[in-house]
Amino acid sequence: MFLNRPEAPVAETGYRRDVVIINFMDEVGVGIVGLGNVGSGTLAILAENADQIALKLGFRLKVAAVCSRSVHSKQLPPALDGMFRTADWREVVTHPGVQIVAELVGGTTVASEIIEAAIRNRKSVVTANKELMADCGPEIWDRAIHAGINLAMEASVCGGIPIHAVLREGISGDRVVALYGILNGTCNYILTEMEKRGVSLQTVLEEAQRLGYAEADPSADIDGFDARSKLVLLAALAFGEKITPSDIFMEGIRRIQPVDFLYARQLKHTVRLICGGRQTPHGIILSVRPALIPASTILAGVQGPYNAVWVKGKYGEDTFYYGWGAGARPTGVAVVSDLMRVAREIRSGSPERVSPFAHERLGENKPLSIAYKRSAYYLRFRVNDRPGIIARLAGILAAKNISLEAVLQLPGEDPRDLPFAMTAEPTSEQSIREAIEEMSQLDFMTETPLALPMEAGL
Ligand code: HSE
Repeated sequence: MFLNRPEAPVAETGYRRDVVIINFMDEVGVGIVGLGNVGSGTLAILAENADQIALKLGFRLKVAAVCSRSVHSKQLPPALDGMFRTADWREVVTHPGVQIVAELVGGTTVASEIIEAAIRNRKSVVTANKELMADCGPEIWDRAIHAGINLAMEASVCGGIPIHAVLREGISGDRVVALYGILNGTCNYILTEMEKRGVSLQTVLEEAQRLGYAEADPSADIDGFDARSKLVLLAALAFGEKITPSDIFMEGIRRIQPVDFLYARQLKHTVRLICGGRQTPHGIILSVRPALIPASTILAGVQGPYNAVWVKGKYGEDTFYYGWGAGARPTGVAVVSDLMRVAREIRSGSPERVSPFAHERLGENKPLSIAYKRSAYYLRFRVNDRPGIIARLAGILAAKNISLEAVLQLPGEDPRDLPFAMTAEPTSEQSIREAIEEMSQLDFMTETPLALPMEAGL
C-alpha cells in the first residue's frame, strides 16, 4: 500500500522521500486510558495527524482501544470510529490488539494499577504521570525491563517541551552541572500577572480559577508540589540521582506580594518560581522556591503560562528550552511522540532500551541540605513603624556576619504595616534562616520577614 503525495518535490537524488511504503500488517496498536485534557489532545492528534505519523514511521499507529468513565457519551474523532470503547481500563490492558498502553489518568492510585497491569500483560507503557514517576518511576522501570517492555514519560514534565529527550539523548554526552527551570505554568502566569498589573496573588488566582487555568484546589501548583515532582524527574535525568520528593527544599509562591515586584524592579530583577539543581563537589543542591532573578536573563523573559528549562553542561555549556508546560495539544504531542518511539522499537524488536531516566542505574545520594547554599538574599519586611527598626535588623545581620548591601523603601505606605526591603551580600541559607528566626520575634514585625535568594549567573 502506498501513501503517495504526487505534488511533493522529488529530491535531487531521485529518491522520493514522500513515497513511503506503509504496511498495514505492521501497524502497532495503542490503547488510551483517560480522556481528560491530555487524553483528548492525544486522541485528536492520533486521528488528525495519522498520515504524517505513518510517513515518519513507515507503519501506522492504530488506536485499538480507548477507556474513560464517560467514553460512551463522549464525542470522539470520527476517523477513529471503529475502535473499541470501554469504561473499564482492564479491558484495554488485556486487549489483544493493544501493544502500548497510554496511561493518561493521573494521580497515583488507579494509574499505578493500570501501569502494573499493563506490565504484567507485557504491554509497553507511555505515561504523562509526573507524580507517580517521581514517587516510584525507577522501580516501575525495573519491572518494565524484566517484562521486556518499554516505559516512556516525556509528557510528565513541561508538556510541550521535549526536555526528557534532550537530557536522555540530545545532550547525554555532556555532564550537567546546573539546571534551572520554570516548571509550573500556573505559578508563572500568576507571578507575571502580578508583576504586570500590580495586583495581589489572590486576585489573579481567583481570575485564573474562573477561567479554568488554575485548579479549584490550587495547592499542588502554588505550594510547589507539582514543580517538585517535575524537578525529581529532571534531577534523575540530569544528575543521575534517585531523589525522594520530600528531600527537596520546597517553598511556594503564597507569600509573594505586589510590592516584591516593585523592589525587585529597583534591583533590576524579577520574581519567579525557580526549580534549581546544581552539582557541587559534595553533592547536588535542589530547591523549588520563589527567587529574584536578574531581569536581563532569558528566564526572566518567560511570561504567562509558559515553561522553560536552562541547562548548563560542563562541555556543551548553555542550552535553553522553552514552550507550553501544559495544554491538551502540546502535551498530546509529547504523548504521541513517545508512542511513536516505543512503536518503532516494537517494530524493530530492539532489545536495547534507553532508560527513561537516562542512566542505566540511578545513584541514591540524598541532595545536600539547602542550608549549605550560598547566595545574595532579598529580605522583605512589614513593620509597625517606629525609630530604630533598621538599626535593630542590621544589628541581627551583623551578629551573623551577614553584610547588608541595600535598603529599599517606597514613599506613601501605611506606617502601621510598612513594607521595606534589604538585600544581603552572599551568605549561607543557614545564616539567613537564623537571622529571620530572630527577626520574626521582634514586636514591630506585622508578618514574618520574607527571604528570597537572588540567583546569580543564570
Ligand atoms: N498544573 C501544571 C502547571 C501543569 O500549572 O504547570 C501540569 O503539570
